[in-house]
Amino acid sequence: MIFDTHAHYDDEAFDGDRDDLLRSMEENNIRRIVNVGASLSSNETTRLLAQRYPFVYAAFGVHPSNTAELTQENFGRIEELVKHPKCVAVGEIGLDYYYDEPGRELQKEWFAAQLKLAIREKKPVIIHSRDAAQDTYDLMKAEHAESWGGVVHCFSYSKEMAGLFVKLGFFIGVGGVITFKNGRVLREVVENIPLEHIVLETDCPYMAPVPFRGKRNSSLNLPLVVEQIAQIKGISTERVEEITWENALRLYRMQE
Ligand code: NI
Repeated sequence: MIFDTHAHYDDEAFDGDRDDLLRSMEENNIRRIVNVGASLSSNETTRLLAQRYPFVYAAFGVHPSNTAELTQENFGRIEELVKHPKCVAVGEIGLDYYYDEPGRELQKEWFAAQLKLAIREKKPVIIHSRDAAQDTYDLMKAEHAESWGGVVHCFSYSKEMAGLFVKLGFFIGVGGVITFKNGRVLREVVENIPLEHIVLETDCPYMAPVPFRGKRNSSLNLPLVVEQIAQIKGISTERVEEITWENALRLYRMQE
C-alpha cells in the first residue's frame, strides 16, 4: 500500500481526467493521498476533493510564494478550514528564497503565523523550503515546530541538514527527484537517514520521476520512487512501502 503524502490534484493539469484518475488509485495500490493547499483558492478546492473522496485528506495553508495574498481578515478562513474533520496538517508553509518576491520579511511573518496556528490546533506542518535552509530551521526552532512535528517536503538540502530536521522529529519527503540524474544529494540523504523518517510524495502535477521527467506527474508513478529507495537501502520494495506507509500514518496522526 502506498501513501502519497503530498499532492495537488486540484491543479488545472488534472481538469480533463481528475475523477477517472482518482478513481483508479485504489486498484493501483495507492490507498491514501493528502492533497495540499498552497493558496487561498487551492485551499477551497482541496476541501472539496477531501469531501468527495474518502481516501483523500487535506492540508490547508499558504505557500511562501503566495503569502502576498494574505491579510489578517482572510487568514481567518485558514483558521476555520484547519478545523475541518479531514484536515490532517497545516501546509504547505515555509520559506522560498529562489525568487525575490514576496520579500523575505513577509514570508517569515506568515510562516511564523502559520506555525503558531498549527501548534494551537495540534496539527503537524508541511514545510516547503527552498534556498532558505538556515532561516527555515531557525524559525521552526523559535516557534517550537517540534511540538507537533511534520514533514520537510520535496527535500532539497544536504544530508547534514536532513540530520538536523530528523533530530527535531521531522520526516523527510522524498519524491521524483530521487530518480533524476542530478538527484545525487537526495540519494545521499536517503542513504544516510533512517527509513523510519522518510515519507513518499509526488508533489504532482510536478516532479515526475524518470522516465517521465517533465511530464504530468501522479501518484501512479510512486512505485518508481519506491524502487529507487529500495535500491539505496538494499531492501525489498514491499518493505519500503510498508515502512513509509506506517511513517505517513505517524506523521499525520491517522488510524490504519
Ligand atoms: Ni507542493
